Amino acid sequence: MAKAPIPHPILSTTRLRLRQFRPDDAEGMHRCFGDAAAMRFWNHAAYAKPSESERAVRRFIDCTPSYYRFWAVAEAGSNRCIGMVNYHDGQMRSRRVTIGYIVDPGRQRTGIATEAVAAMLDFCFGELGLHRVQAFIHPDNAASRGLAEKLGFRCEGRLRDHLRVSGEWRDDMLYALLATERPGAVIP
Ligand SMILES: CC(C)(COP(=O)(O)OP(=O)(O)OC[C@H]1O[C@@H](n2cnc3c(N)ncnc32)[C@H](O)[C@@H]1OP(=O)(O)O)[C@@H](O)C(=O)NCCC(=O)NCCS
Repeated sequence: MAKAPIPHPILSTTRLRLRQFRPDDAEGMHRCFGDAAAMRFWNHAAYAKPSESERAVRRFIDCTPSYYRFWAVAEAGSNRCIGMVNYHDGQMRSRRVTIGYIVDPGRQRTGIATEAVAAMLDFCFGELGLHRVQAFIHPDNAASRGLAEKLGFRCEGRLRDHLRVSGEWRDDMLYALLATERPGAVIP
């Protein structure tokens, strides 16, 4: 008999519900992916057509828990999608993942990302038992660097020509947070 799929974990915070993506989240995600300013430091250019966001959302529904997983960041009350958080490039032998995040430009600077990423970090360190969570951030991405630092990440240096976007090389700053550095950590 085929195994029943493991349900996608739902992470709840005061204002948010982090849940599996569904096709009708494409409109909310297009407010992110269709915005040139929000996409300035992303690993691809902004999407001109809503159909490109629809295709991306269809990919976000799937996951390989040991390697990657996406959560729709939804408002707790309306369940409306206002962003996305994910981990990817999972290296379970080294108990390490890389994370990504984006918030609807109309909802930024209200603590949404702090709340959503903190919930995902609880899951990564708690449920997955990870040791290291890292983020690659463009040197000029002040919002993302500020968020990472607020959550306790440390900057470990600059990676030259780390990413190629629209034919151009980009540097990244490498940020990381270890399980042993989290407030109240008891893990050796
Ligand atoms: C990065 C991003 C997710 C932050 O989302 P947000 O919901 O606005 O973040 P928060 O309101 O929780 O802010 C957390 C901290 O980030 C920093 N920050 C957020 N926006 C900032 C801005 N415009 N300028 C400088 N610092 C900023 C601040 O340190 C802030 O803490 P504070 O409010 O106590 O000062 C959002 O700006 C975004 O979606 N950017 C585009 C996508 C992107 O670049 N993703 C990261 C790829 S590595």
